[in-house]
Amino acid sequence: MKVLSVCSEMFPLIKTGGLADMTGALPGALAGQGVDMRVLLPAYRGVTMSLESCTELAALDLPLGRAGLRHCRMQGIDIFLLDAPALYDRPGGPYLDAAGQDHPDNWKRFALLAQAAAAIACGALPGWVPDVVHAHDWQAGLCAACLRAQDSETPVIQTIHNVAFAGRFPAAIFPELGLPEGFFGIDGVEFYGDVSFLKAGLAFSDLVTTVSPTYAEELTRPALGGGFDGLLRARGADLVGILNGLDSEEWNPETDPLIIRQYTASRLGQRQVNRNSLYTAFALEDGRPLVAMVSRLTDQKGVDLVFDAAGEIIGRGFNLIILGAGDEAHETRALAVGSAHPGRAGVHVGYDEALAHRIQAGTDALLVPSRFEPCGLTQMCALRYGALPIVAPTGGLVDSVIDASPMALAQNVATGLHLREVSAAGILFALDRLTAILANPPCHQQMIRNAMKTDVSLGRTAAEYAALYARFRQSEPRVRA
Ligand code: ADP
Ligand code: GLC
Repeated sequence: MKVLSVCSEMFPLIKTGGLADMTGALPGALAGQGVDMRVLLPAYRGVTMSLESCTELAALDLPLGRAGLRHCRMQGIDIFLLDAPALYDRPGGPYLDAAGQDHPDNWKRFALLAQAAAAIACGALPGWVPDVVHAHDWQAGLCAACLRAQDSETPVIQTIHNVAFAGRFPAAIFPELGLPEGFFGIDGVEFYGDVSFLKAGLAFSDLVTTVSPTYAEELTRPALGGGFDGLLRARGADLVGILNGLDSEEWNPETDPLIIRQYTASRLGQRQVNRNSLYTAFALEDGRPLVAMVSRLTDQKGVDLVFDAAGEIIGRGFNLIILGAGDEAHETRALAVGSAHPGRAGVHVGYDEALAHRIQAGTDALLVPSRFEPCGLTQMCALRYGALPIVAPTGGLVDSVIDASPMALAQNVATGLHLREVSAAGILFALDRLTAILANPPCHQQMIRNAMKTDVSLGRTAAEYAALYARFRQSEPRVRA
C-alpha cells in the first residue's frame, strides 16, 4: 500500500505544532504495518540542511507554474520536496513572514502543493504512484479538488488537525486555481462567498478523519464546528476520529538524551533530579510542588486563564514554569508573570524542544486548559513522563486523560485531572484537588504509575490509519471512464 502524505510541516525539519509531530512520526510507524508512506513537503528555506541526501527527480508543469521535485531521505523516510524558490525560499516561518504576518501569497504556496500532489497521484513519478493521498489540514485541502478536476479517482483522505484554520481567501483567487468553474459552489470550495481550502478538502475527499473521537463528535456541532458542522454532519460515517499518539522513541524518559536524569516508573526517585535541575535553572525556591505549561501562546490554549490565576497558583504554594511562544500580547503577559514572582515563577518565551522535555520530566503537573483541543500531544508527553495532566474536558484531552474521580481513584485508573470549569477559578479548584492528591503519597504514586503506563504510542494510531487505507487498496492510478 503506497500513501502520499501531503503536509506543510514535518518534525524535525519544520514545526510549528503537533501537526509536524504527527506527519514526522507516521511514516515510520506505518512502515511496520506494511504501508509505504512518502511525504510531500514544500522546500522551505533551510529545510534541506538536516536531510541525508537529495536528488533532483522531476520538473512538474502545474496549473500555477513550473516547479521542481527533489527526492530526499531522512531517518529512513522518503520525502518529496516541492521546489519553487519564488514561493518557498524566503525568510520567516511556513505561514508567517519575519514580521509575524501571513505570507500574502499563502493561497498560491499551498495551492501549488496540492497541484503537485495531484500530479504525483496521476503518475508524474512513474516509479511510484500512490494508492491513496492523505492530505493534512487546509494547507493540503485542495488535493482532492485538484484530483477530481483531472478526473482522477485516486482516493483522498482529508485529516482535520484544527478546524479553526480554514484556509480562507477572497473569491477573486478562484479563477487562478485552475479548477472547473462548477467547483465554486456550496457543495465545493465556496465558503460564505470566499474560497476555503479546508472546505474543499471536506467536500471532495473520500473520507475525512480528525485527531480524536471526541473532537470528531464536537466538529458536528455549531459551537466547535468552525462553520463546517453542517457539512460534517452530512458526511455521517465518512468522518472518523483517530486519536494521535507519540513517537515513543522521541518521548521516552528511560532513554531521553535531552533530560538530565533518565528514569522509569519503578525508579521515580531519579525523576526528582530533573525537577531540582529546573529549580536551579529558573532560580526557584526548593521544597515546593511544581506546575507547568508548555504551549503555543494562543487563545485556543487558554493560556490567559493561567496568567489570570498565576498569583493564586503561587499563593497556594506551587511554583510555576511557563514555556511558550505565540501571540505577542500573551508573550508579554507570560513575561510579566515571571517578573512579578521571582523565585516562584520561571518563564521562557520562545520555542525550545530540549526545555520542553526537561519540564515534562520534572514537573508534578502540566496545565492544559484549552478552550478546544482537537487532540493535544503535550498531555500525552506528560502522561509518559509521569507529570499529571490537568486538562480541559474537550477533544482529545478527554480521550487521553482519566480524571481522578472517586470512582477512578477507587479503581486505580486515574491519570490526571479534568477541569470542572475552563476558567481561572476552575484551574485553582483543580490545583486544590492536586494538593489533596500530593498529600496522599500512595495515591499520588499510583496515579503517576497509571499515567506512565497509558498507551499513548503511535503504534495504535498507525494501525487505525492502515485499516482505513486498506479500504482503498488498488495498484494503478484510477481514471474515470
Ligand atoms: P498544537 O499543535 O495545537 O500546538 P499539540 O499539543 O498537539 O498542540 O502539540 C504541541 C507540540 O509542540 C508538542 O510537541 C509540544 O511539546 C510542543 N511545543 C509547544 N510549545 C512549545 C515550546 N514553546 N517549546 C517547545 N515545544 C513546544
Ligand atoms: C493541531 C491541534 C492539536 C493536535 C495537533 C496534531 O495543532 O491543535 O490538538 O494535537 O494538531 O494533530
